[in-house]
Amino acid sequence: MIGKLNHVGVATPSIDAAVALYRDVLGATSITEKWAMEEQGVWVCFVNLPNSQIELIEPLGDNSPLKGFLAKNPAGGQHHVCFEVEDILAARDEMRAKGATVLGTGEPRIGAHGTQVIFVHPKDMGGVLIELMETPKENH
Ligand code: CO
Repeated sequence: MIGKLNHVGVATPSIDAAVALYRDVLGATSITEKWAMEEQGVWVCFVNLPNSQIELIEPLGDNSPLKGFLAKNPAGGQHHVCFEVEDILAARDEMRAKGATVLGTGEPRIGAHGTQVIFVHPKDMGGVLIELMETPKENH
């Protein structure tokens, strides 16, 4: 059911420092500006790679869902993996039917790429937080 690996989410206490790492040390040449996703409580930017992206995320605001993660991983770390799906509601229902826990209300939210996303709890996913993202229609 899952399609392309869209991105790997990496949490960081400082996007600016993480951008410098990916650009200056790892040599990434295409990195977006950061922007605020108020509803998700994160700052976000993307490191564009030939076959995928790294999504850098930094806490935004006091209620950011990243605060707990960074308390356990102060230097930051790999946070989630995002796969594309054709139909987000079908994917959500299938996850639930198979016993996986969809986070929050289960209603998809608009993700960083402007399409709907859900997150599936790592306890049902071998310890990995999984983001499922509806494939952008312009890619078809
Ligand atoms: Co993501």
